[in-house]
Amino acid sequence: ATERTLSIIKPDATRRNLTGKINAKFEDAGLRIVAQKRVRLSLAQAETFYAVHSARPFFGELTEFMASGPVVLQVLEGENAIAKNREVMGATNPADAAPGTIRAEFAESVGENSVHGSDAPETAAEEIAFFFAGLEIVG
Ligand code: CMP
Repeated sequence: ATERTLSIIKPDATRRNLTGKINAKFEDAGLRIVAQKRVRLSLAQAETFYAVHSARPFFGELTEFMASGPVVLQVLEGENAIAKNREVMGATNPADAAPGTIRAEFAESVGENSVHGSDAPETAAEEIAFFFAGLEIVG
C-alpha cells in the first residue's frame, strides 16, 4: 500500500552538507519527498518528539544533539514507504548498516547517525502530525 513516513536529516548530516546526497538515496529508492522543511529544533521540541526514549541513558545526549544544529524534516511517500525508508537508512548503528545504505555511507556513530525514520504506521502518523500541517504535504 502507499504509505507516508516521517524522515529527519539530522544535524551531523546538515553540518556536512549531505542533504542532497541523502535525498538522492530516497528518490533512487522510489520514495517521493512530498513535504520538506529545514528548521532548528528547540531542546523542548526534541524532548517531546523523543519522549518515548526519555528513560534511556542516552536521552540527554540524543535531544541535545538534535537541537544542536539545523535538521531537515520530511514526509516521504511511496509503496511500503515505512519499511523502504528503513531499508535505505540501514541499521541504527552504522557499524551494523549494510553497504550502500545512508548510515553505512554517512553516519558518524550510533548517536550521530544522519537520519531518523518512523518505525511503524502508528508512529509515522503521530510523527508527521507533530511537525506538519495537512496543507504542507503535497503528494
Ligand atoms: P532514531 O531513529 O532517531 O531514534 C532514536 C535515536 O536514539 C536513534 O535514532 C539513535 O540515533 C539514538 N541512539 C540509540 N542508541 C544510542 C546510544 N547508545 N547513544 C546515543 N544515541 C543513541
